[in-house]
Amino acid sequence: MGFLNLCIMFLLLISTNACDRCLHQSKVAFFSTSSSLSSGACGYGSSATSFYGSHLAAAVPTIYKSGSGCGACFQMRCKDSKLCSKAGTQVIVTDLNKNNETDFVVSGRAFMAMANPGMGHNLLKLGVADVEYKRVPCVYKGKNLTVRVEESTQKPNYLALKFLYQGGQTEIVGVDVAQVGSSSWTYMTRNYGAVWDTSRVPAGPLQLRLVVTSGYDGKWIWAKSVLPADWTVGGVYDSGVQIDDIAQEGCGECDEQDWKF
Ligand SMILES: *[C@@H]1O[C@H](CO)[C@@H](O)[C@H](O)[C@H]1NC(C)=O
Ligand SMILES: *[C@@H]1O[C@H](CO)[C@@H](O)[C@H](O)[C@H]1NC(C)=O
Repeated sequence: MGFLNLCIMFLLLISTNACDRCLHQSKVAFFSTSSSLSSGACGYGSSATSFYGSHLAAAVPTIYKSGSGCGACFQMRCKDSKLCSKAGTQVIVTDLNKNNETDFVVSGRAFMAMANPGMGHNLLKLGVADVEYKRVPCVYKGKNLTVRVEESTQKPNYLALKFLYQGGQTEIVGVDVAQVGSSSWTYMTRNYGAVWDTSRVPAGPLQLRLVVTSGYDGKWIWAKSVLPADWTVGGVYDSGVQIDDIAQEGCGECDEQDWKF
């Protein structure tokens, strides 16, 4: 990458980081149904229920980051050692939490998963729990990064794609699309949440290249064949690649300690 690009990338990192990798202290509440979360601001819809055993989370704006925080994974545990396990559980961001009293509102299933055996209902009765949390890499065993063609798509003039099963601990900061075998790339724009779109849709089978933050820098990930020529609205397509990069945010020193009580 050139020097200018590097500077831009640094600015991007500095302006969007909330030092997710550090250990944070907060409270967490829960939604009684996970359906209220799967219809969340990230736009995952019913696909979200296949993420992390429905351990879904609505996160405050500093974590949601105008949608680029969608799909981020967090390790979370409650601090009541009688009710809760030391390991805690993992949740994935699928929605925006507009209530500023807790950093996250999670599905009931995720909330219960923080409990010691037999303590789930006692924990639920609390309603809100003191927790600590930090960002961790998302790991989808046996799944590649996958795209879904959104209903708003108007073939051949407008294409909207949603990214599913996004691994790693990073953000997708850019997406380009081109016909397979062509070097004539068209950029896509984040429409909302995990959805990217363009109104200049190349014809034929389509390849994608993504920019993700990796370490302190940007990195290209090239998915050489994603959509077949006969791609359809509602279609779900394997990208053939997965992301395992870890972004090093430009934040100062922080507590990155492993879980210990
Ligand atoms: C939450 O927002 C309300 C209304 O904007 C404000 O009065 C309150 O102080 C905020 N609470 C916290 C903990 O920031
Ligand atoms: C992921 O992509 C690779 C090609 O890069 C492919 O061989 C593999 O079958 C894909 N995995 C799944 C679960 O589809």
